[in-house]
Amino acid sequence: MPKRKGITVSRQIMDSQHRHPEATGELTGLLNDLIVAAKIINSEVNMAGLAGILGQSGQINVQGEQVQKLDDFANLTIKRRMEQCGYVCIMASEEDDGVIPVLDSYAGKYTVAFDPLDGSSNIDVNVSIGTIFSIHRRKSEGTQGQIADLLQTGREQVAAGYIIYGSSTMLVYTVGEGVQGFTLDPSVGEFFLSHPDIKIPPKAKYYSINEAYSRYWHDNTRAYVEHLKDLDERGECSYSLRYIGSLVADFHRNLIKGGVFVYPRDRKSGKGKLRLLYEAAPLALLVEQAGGRAIDDEGRNILDLEPTELHQRVPLIIGSKEEVDLAEQYFKS
Ligand code: AHG
Ligand code: MN
Ligand code: MN
Repeated sequence: MPKRKGITVSRQIMDSQHRHPEATGELTGLLNDLIVAAKIINSEVNMAGLAGILGQSGQINVQGEQVQKLDDFANLTIKRRMEQCGYVCIMASEEDDGVIPVLDSYAGKYTVAFDPLDGSSNIDVNVSIGTIFSIHRRKSEGTQGQIADLLQTGREQVAAGYIIYGSSTMLVYTVGEGVQGFTLDPSVGEFFLSHPDIKIPPKAKYYSINEAYSRYWHDNTRAYVEHLKDLDERGECSYSLRYIGSLVADFHRNLIKGGVFVYPRDRKSGKGKLRLLYEAAPLALLVEQAGGRAIDDEGRNILDLEPTELHQRVPLIIGSKEEVDLAEQYFKS
C-alpha cells in the first residue's frame, strides 16, 4: 500500500486564510506564485549538471561576488513570477543593486525580499542550496511601492521562509502561526506537509561557524566558541561542528536537530557577511516561531533591527534557545 500523502501546501495556505475572515486571498495568491517559482528553480537545480548551467557566469554581483549561472536563473524566475502576480508592489533581491519596481497595473499590497540562491558556492558540487524569502505588507499609498516599504523590521514580516534544494526539496515557511515544513514529491509536482509545527530543540547538538576565520575573531566570539568546546561533567564534548557554507542548509539542519549558527563580525568584516533583509530576518522569524532565538553580536533581537539599506549586513547568531542565551552573555555589549 503506498503511504497516504498529507495535505498540500496550497491547501494549508488556504486553510490558514480561512482562519482569518479579514484576509482577501492576496497573500495566498502571492505564496502560491512563489511556490511555482520555487518548483521551476528546483527542476533547474536538479538538471543543472546536465543542462550545463553550473559554473560561474563571469559577472560580479552587487556584493562583489561571482554570480553563478543558476543564481541568474533563480533571480529571473522569481522576479518574473512576482512582478506580474498582482500582489507585489516592489521587490529586493540579493542579485540586484537597487529596488525592483513593478508595473503600476500589477502593483499589489505586499513587498518581497529574497535571496534567489543561497549557498551558491556549493552549486557545482551537488551540496544543498536554497531560496530565502521575506514578505511585508506595504506601508505607502499609491501604486508604486517605495524603498521604505522594504525597509521594515523583521518583526513586521507577514510571511517568511525558504526552499531547500537538498536530498529532497523542502519548503519551510511561517505566516506567524508556527512553522510548517513541506516536502516536494517530484512525481506529483506538489509539496506535501511532512513536518507540521516544527519546534527547534531547545538544546543544540551542533554549532556552525567558519572556524577558518578564527584568526580574525574578536575576543567574545573566541570565548563563546571555546565555551562550546568545553567538556561536560562526564568529560565529553557537548557539541559537534557542522558547517556546510549554505546558510539555508546549516539553518535547516539546526532547526530540525538542534544547533546554533554563528556568523559574527570579525577583524576583517566590519558587519559580518549575511544580509539582514533577505537572509537574517526571515530565518529569525522562523526560528522564533519554532521556539528558538536570533540575535546580533550585541545581543539585539534580529527581528527588532531597523533596516536602513537593502543590502545591509548583520552579524548573526541563530538557533536553539539555550545556546543563543549563552551567546547573549558573551556578546551583549
Ligand atoms: P550566497 O550564496 O547567497 O551569497 O550566501 C552565501 C552565504 C551563506 O549561505 C553561507 O552561510 C555563507 O555565505 C558562507 O560564508 P563563508 O564562506 O564566509 O563561511
Ligand atoms: Mn545567501
Ligand atoms: Mn545568493
